[in-house]
Amino acid sequence: MARVYGIDPGTCTLKIYQKGTGIIYNQKNALAMIDGERIIATGDAAWEMEGRTPANIEVLYPVRSGVLAQVKNMLAQLNIVFDKIGEEHERLNGQDFLVASPSYATEVEKKALVDLINACDIKPRRIRVVDSPIAAALGAGVLLRECYGAMVVDIGADTTEIAVLSLGGTVASRMLNFGGYRLDESIINSVRLYYNFAIGRKTAEQIKIALGTAIHPEEGEVITKKVFGRDVVSGLPGSIAVDSLFVYLAIKDHIEKITEVILNLLLHIPPEMSADIMESGIILTGGVAGIKGLDKVISDLTGLKVHKCDNGSETVALGLGKIAEDPDYDFLAEQYSMLKIED
Ligand SMILES: Nc1ncnc2c1ncn2[C@@H]1O[C@H](COP(=O)(O)OP(=O)(O)OP(=O)(O)O)[C@@H](O)[C@H]1O
Ligand SMILES: [Mg+2]
Repeated sequence: MARVYGIDPGTCTLKIYQKGTGIIYNQKNALAMIDGERIIATGDAAWEMEGRTPANIEVLYPVRSGVLAQVKNMLAQLNIVFDKIGEEHERLNGQDFLVASPSYATEVEKKALVDLINACDIKPRRIRVVDSPIAAALGAGVLLRECYGAMVVDIGADTTEIAVLSLGGTVASRMLNFGGYRLDESIINSVRLYYNFAIGRKTAEQIKIALGTAIHPEEGEVITKKVFGRDVVSGLPGSIAVDSLFVYLAIKDHIEKITEVILNLLLHIPPEMSADIMESGIILTGGVAGIKGLDKVISDLTGLKVHKCDNGSETVALGLGKIAEDPDYDFLAEQYSMLKIED
């Protein structure tokens, strides 16, 4: 019998689920290329090189805004990753694949994902596409078959997808074309403006994860982190201390934008579904769900309970896993190309 793998190719992280085992891969969706032709690192190892490379090495990100942007690079990366994990886990050759796609992706973009997996060296048996919000809801534990109303807020690196689901389908959705990366950019810009100090993307992400908060920190609650970079005036390397109040102010507008769109979508759901959503609440997921207090801010604003996923980055892949493990959810996966199936 074919094994099943679930793939969530995010803008920031690539996650792979193996049926019967769980998440077997979760690393940065990045590769480092030398002289524009040879890959020298993938995943977290490539991300480690970000901002530190000589002119002939480039760190590349094959997925942009949740959709495939560099097909050749993504294919090369997947072949390396499949090769690596294929040695530890039984071979991936000739297996079934479920691949997550943002719900707003066009049919052509979804088909491109299928073609991508199909072109990999592992020669897949069958490839099917699942809409990310559906997978996220399943991954968060929603019993989609019985559920008449659930709201999913998935804040990833470059996209924020907000969807209202019912009985395994999408009733209404909104997409914002920003996520965690935009928060990093704002931190970089604020640090430059207020401290005359330049920091890189990796440092900004570390600041966001360590100090990011959606709630104004009270006096006495403010935490501080020492970070390294370059003094813009002297041009010399140095360090500064950044605190959580500063980060709160730097990212505040983006958090407000997200909550505004959640409210707006709630205003447009069919009245019959309001009671269901009141009962099931909002699922907050994606890596950025980890921002301190974000669940409380959304809950206070909407009056709904918010279920924050523990490791939001993996929720979609866990949902693909649910479909792989439970035949009752099989109908949620869509077949885009009929491949020759040999048993
Ligand atoms: N604890 C945390 N607090 C805040 N942000 C976090 C935390 N952990 C991860 N992130 C951020 O979450 C983002 C990655 O989330 P995720 O893995 O869900 O994105 P993705 O699926 O790759 O992107 P997309 O869905 O936009 O294509 C990054 O911007 C990362 O910095
Ligand atoms: Mg994602």
